[in-house]
Amino acid sequence: MRITPSSNRLSQALREQRLIAPGFGRYFTDHMVVIPFQGGHWQQGELKAYGPLSLDPATSALHYGQAVFEGFKAFVQEGGGVKTFRPHANAERFNRSAARLAMPPLPVDRFIEAADELIRIDRSWIPQNKGESLYLRPLMFATDTCLGVRPSQEYLFVLIASPAGAYFSKGVQPVTVWVSEEFVRAAPGGTGEAKCAGNYAASLLAQAQAQEKGCDQVVWLDAVDREFIEEMGGMNLFFVNQKNGKTIVSTPELSGTLLPGITRSSVLELARELGFDAVERKLGLAQWREEIASGEMTEVFACGTAAVITPVGHVKANGFEMQINKGANGVVTMALREALLAIQYGAVADTHGWMHGVF
Ligand code: PLP
Ligand code: COI
Repeated sequence: MRITPSSNRLSQALREQRLIAPGFGRYFTDHMVVIPFQGGHWQQGELKAYGPLSLDPATSALHYGQAVFEGFKAFVQEGGGVKTFRPHANAERFNRSAARLAMPPLPVDRFIEAADELIRIDRSWIPQNKGESLYLRPLMFATDTCLGVRPSQEYLFVLIASPAGAYFSKGVQPVTVWVSEEFVRAAPGGTGEAKCAGNYAASLLAQAQAQEKGCDQVVWLDAVDREFIEEMGGMNLFFVNQKNGKTIVSTPELSGTLLPGITRSSVLELARELGFDAVERKLGLAQWREEIASGEMTEVFACGTAAVITPVGHVKANGFEMQINKGANGVVTMALREALLAIQYGAVADTHGWMHGVF
C-alpha cells in the first residue's frame, strides 16, 4: 500500500476538542484508505489525506445501490497498545455481503492491513476514555459509469475512521423501541443478511416513525407472518428469561433475513461462559408479550458494534406498550456488557482470540 501522509492534518487543539465528546460518526480522522478494483483485480491501495471523492454522475452505485459496508472498533488497551475486535469476522462478512450484491471479494489480509495502517497513522485520534473507541468504517461501491443494470466491472474500496463515544446520546440507559407492523426490513431471499446500503435506506421511514412515537429504534418483524421478532435498525436483539431457577439468554435465530452480528455471536459465547443458558429461537410478538406479562422475561437488550450492549426499557407497538425491568438496566445485561468491554479494553485475558493487535 502506498502511504502518502496528509500535509493538512487537523491541529492538535482542534482534534482534542473533538475528542472531548466524539459522539458517533460525526468526526473523521486525518486519513483514509482507497483501493480500486479495475481490470478484474484489486490494484495497489493508497493511504492518503481524508477528503472528498470525485464521482461521475453516472457512477452506478449512485443509481442502483451496489454498495456494502462494515463497522468495527479499535480500543486502547489497559496495558498499553491498541487492538481491534474481531476484524477478521468483519472482513469475512464484508465479503459475504459483497458476494450477495455480485461484487468481488477483497482479500482478508488487505482488509486487515488497510485498517492497521489507518489506525497507526491516526493513532492520536483514538479516544482514551472507557466506553470510547475508534470506529472503522470500510465500504465498497460500484464505480462503472454506465446506466446499464448489471454488476459493475469496477469498484472502489474505501476505509475511513471516526472517534466514537456512546451511540445513544443519553449513554448507557435503557432505550425505547417501536415495533413496526407497517414496514419490513428484509424478506426471505432478499438482502437482509448482507450489510448493504439499501437495507439502511429501506429502514429510514420506519425509523422516522419510531422517533415520532418517542422511540429510539425500530424493531423489525419477519416479512411473511409479520409476527416473529427479527432485529433492530442497526443492532441484534436479546432476551433474558428466568425459568426453573435458570437464566436463559436468547436471540432470534438467523433466518436468512437478519444480520449475523459479530457482537451477537460473541454475546452467545459470553453468556454460556457466565453460566447462563444461551439459545437461538423463534420468538413471536404475541409470545413476547406473554413472557413479559408473566414476568418470565426479565430483560431485553440490543447489541452491535456501535451500540455495544444497550438495555431496552420500553417496547411500543400499535395498540400496546410494555415496560421491561421497570425501565431500568438489567443485571444480566450489564454483566454481559462488562464481560464484553473487559475483553475489548484488555482488562481480562482474551481467551477467544478475538483481539487483533495493531500496535
Ligand atoms: N443488525 C444490523 C442491521 C446492523 O446494522 C448491525 C451493525 O453492524 C448489527 C445487527 C450488529 O452487528 P455487529 O454486532 O456485527 O456490529
Ligand atoms: C455498527 O454497529 O457498526 C453499525 O453498522 C450500526 C449502524 C451504525 C449502521
